[in-house]
Amino acid sequence: MSRGTAVPQNAREEYERSGWLAVPDRLAPEALEKVRDSIAAISRTDRPEVVQEAGSDTVRALHGCHGYDDVCAQLVRHPLLLDLAEELVGDRVYVYQFKVNIKSPREGQQWPWHQDFAFWAHEDGMPAADAVNIAINLDEVHEHNGPLTVLTGSHRLGLIEAPEAARAVTGRDWHEHVSARLTHTVPDARVRELAADFPPVRMTGPAGAITAFHPSIVHSSTDNLSDDRRAVLLITYNSVRNAPVRPSRPDFLVGRDTTPVERLAGALA
Ligand code: SIN
Ligand code: MN
Repeated sequence: MSRGTAVPQNAREEYERSGWLAVPDRLAPEALEKVRDSIAAISRTDRPEVVQEAGSDTVRALHGCHGYDDVCAQLVRHPLLLDLAEELVGDRVYVYQFKVNIKSPREGQQWPWHQDFAFWAHEDGMPAADAVNIAINLDEVHEHNGPLTVLTGSHRLGLIEAPEAARAVTGRDWHEHVSARLTHTVPDARVRELAADFPPVRMTGPAGAITAFHPSIVHSSTDNLSDDRRAVLLITYNSVRNAPVRPSRPDFLVGRDTTPVERLAGALA
């Protein structure tokens, strides 16, 4: 796989060992501003892709924005992101999911401990964990605004949820996959055991910082208890040979277009 200047030499080994990776490059400030403006405009619209916190008008997340917003459509073609995704997945990739999790000051709610691949395998029939999440901080993420926390190396365990427990909750309303009360979770007691061998790391960093994490890594984030917003944009790139076999959720949660994404020179310039 060709490696762009943005991808550190040892990225693949580090990703396979730890299940996550922070890269030195950041999204350029001008590009970041365009994305933030788009996100603000989309947040004001009324469409199923815009999801609110339970019992509130506060926007929790935006989904599938690359399908209806030009700036987000350019972002998924950014060479920096594609170089990283193709290197870590080891294949050409398409956009499986695109979301922005916006944790509003004092109102943004948690994401309980879970593995993304539990949702993708059970709900959509994704054959293997041959995908990668690329997270871009749209705000500074610090200890108190609800950073994503990962259990380093836990992706190597594969899926943790017992098959019968998974079957019991599979196929429910998709809103339960994007709320603060998730269906496929890893119990807190299990996380406490795992933390001894798989050290928790908080993914803090400035706006524009880029982090990759594995579909099977155990992760969570807490409520935003601060006065600072914490918006993180997440693109899941999937191998073009790993499309889900029974997608039934809306296409803004499960991308149906498996055409390899082409780089766009000067994207968001
Ligand atoms: C978060 O935005 O903190 C959670 C993201 C995720 O669970 O993928
Ligand atoms: Mn997740």
